[in-house]
Amino acid sequence: MAPKIFLTRTLPETVMALMKERFEVVQAPRDRPLSAREIIDGAQGCDGIVAMLSDPVTADILKNCPTVRIVANYAAGTNNVDLEAARAGNVAVSNTPCVLTEATADLAFALLLAVARRIVEGHQLVHSGRWDGWGPTLMLGQEIQAKRLGIIGMGKIGCAMARRAQGFGMDIVYHNRNRVAEGVERALDCHLVSLDELLRSSDYISIHCPLTPETRNLLDAKAFTRIKHGAYLINTARGEVVDEAAMIAALDDGTLTGAGLDVFTGEPDVNPRLLELENVVVAPHVGSATYDTRTHMGEVAINNLSAFFEGRDMPNRVV
Ligand code: GLV
Ligand code: GLV
Repeated sequence: MAPKIFLTRTLPETVMALMKERFEVVQAPRDRPLSAREIIDGAQGCDGIVAMLSDPVTADILKNCPTVRIVANYAAGTNNVDLEAARAGNVAVSNTPCVLTEATADLAFALLLAVARRIVEGHQLVHSGRWDGWGPTLMLGQEIQAKRLGIIGMGKIGCAMARRAQGFGMDIVYHNRNRVAEGVERALDCHLVSLDELLRSSDYISIHCPLTPETRNLLDAKAFTRIKHGAYLINTARGEVVDEAAMIAALDDGTLTGAGLDVFTGEPDVNPRLLELENVVVAPHVGSATYDTRTHMGEVAINNLSAFFEGRDMPNRVV
């Protein structure tokens, strides 16, 4: 009998077809974020759950779904899953790294360009009908060439961001738990610095680390006092890596010239102040949102489920 999988959302069509070929798929009647209660009810009697980053897979959910032996997270990040509870309950957890690297770096670079060159403000000006023609000082932004990009979190996505920045002639530094391989540093023409030096010297700061107990509020009020005056902040990682109130204060007092944000604390609620600031470009957590990537993420989740149920090593085991 095919393993029974509770899928919390509807995935791209080809993924749905493949999943239904391999598993008995149980889905909620409507495609929207589910409450913990709905996940528990839906996953009763299932062998596994395919969860989204927007589904908090809590200890309570795992306890109340005793037949579930694997959570295949449809995301690179696994901060939505209580990994300790999974470990304790002998529940496997997998993620979908690698396949979303390029798409996420693309979005981060798009946000960098958008804030530096005020693309959304310009779009709004043209739409408003108030544009009165070319102007020598109209909508001046910041140069990118020869400016310093500080990358926080030099995993696959951070490296992909560096590759893009190289093409734009940026000076690249990074902060990471570990130094990346020398060959990678050489190829990307970047070097490791302390977080302090990164903050003090970067014109653009882009966050690419996972959310863990160590990175929660990594950019806190104290960090913002060290940031180079007038820098830009790009966040396509997780909102909680940044103290949002401190970031807003930094935007208000000019410490930050602008911010490009794909992620927020408490999504989908967004601090209303962020929506009042013209120098903040926001996106609805769409780093991996391309047809190709979301399809590949589904295939990776399916491969992990298949490996698990066939007793093979899971290619992307987190727990
Ligand atoms: C997206 O935020 C992911 O972790 O996949
Ligand atoms: C994500 O897959 C990363 O390692 O950055």
